[in-house]
Amino acid sequence: MTAELIDGIALSRTLRLDVAARAANLKAHGITPGLAVILVGENPASQVYVRNKVKACADAGLHSVLEQYPADLSEAELLKRIKFLNSDPAIHGILVQLPLPAHIDAQKVIEAIAPLKDVDGFHIASAGALMTGNSAFLPCTPYGCMKMLESIGYDLRGKHAVVIGRSNIVGKPMALLLLQKNATVTVCHSATANLKAMTLQADVIVAAVGKRNVLTADMVKPGAVVLDVGMNRTPDGKLCGDVDFDGIKEVASFITPVPGGVGPMTITMLLVNTLEAAERSAAP
Ligand code: GUN
Repeated sequence: MTAELIDGIALSRTLRLDVAARAANLKAHGITPGLAVILVGENPASQVYVRNKVKACADAGLHSVLEQYPADLSEAELLKRIKFLNSDPAIHGILVQLPLPAHIDAQKVIEAIAPLKDVDGFHIASAGALMTGNSAFLPCTPYGCMKMLESIGYDLRGKHAVVIGRSNIVGKPMALLLLQKNATVTVCHSATANLKAMTLQADVIVAAVGKRNVLTADMVKPGAVVLDVGMNRTPDGKLCGDVDFDGIKEVASFITPVPGGVGPMTITMLLVNTLEAAERSAAP
C-alpha cells in the first residue's frame, strides 16, 4: 500500500485565498487585520519562522509588524511593549515567538497578551476555553492538523487517536481537539512504557516530539492516518519530521510530508486566527 499525501501546501493555498478574500472585505469596511510578531534574540530557527509568518501576512493582504529585540531585553521592557500593543487598534493579533531567552518568564509574557489578541492560542484563557469546549483561539499547529483531517473527510468518531508528545503548544491541545471530535485519545510521552503497543492500536497518529524516527513502519497499523508535526534535520542536513516517512508511507492510508505538510498549515491557521481576531473586533 502506498499512502496518499495530505498536502499542506495545497490546502494552505485554498485556506489562504479565503483569508485574503475576507481580509479584503474587512478592508472595504475600514479595518485592516494586523499582526504584531515579537522576536527576542537571535535564534536562527525562530528568525526563519517569524520571517515566514510576516511574509504570509503580506501575501494574504494582512498588515504585520515585526519587532526584533536583542537577547538582553528585560522582561519588564517586553511586558511594557505587549501592554502597548494590547491597546493598539491597528493590531488584532500579538505573537511572541518562543523560545524566549532564559531570563524572561515565557508564561508571564503569554499571560500579558490580551486574550482577544492571543492568536497563538497559548494564553491560559484560550487553553481554558479549549478545555471546556468554548471558543477562543486554537493553537495553530493542532488547529492545522484538524483541518488536514477534515480535508480528507476523516470522521474521528469512535476512532483511536494516539498523540505522541505532551507539550502545551501541540500535544495537549491536539488531544483535546481529537476528543472534541469523539475520538478515543491516548497521549504518549517520554515515560510511556511501550509506545509501539499504543501506536499499533491507533487509527490516527500525531507525532509531535521533535525527534527523528520516533515512529517507524513496524509501529503503524495498516491503513492508519499519520500526521507528522516534527521539524528536524537528518545528519546530512535535510529537513525531516518525527516519523520514518519512506517506511510508513507503505503502511499508512494517509501521511503528511515534511516539508510541505503541517508546517505551512501552522502559518495558515495563524492567518485565520488573526483575521478572526479582526472580524471579532469589528463585530457589534
Ligand atoms: N515556537 C515554536 N512554535 C511556535 C508557535 O507556534 N508560536 C510561537 N509564538 N512560538 C513558537
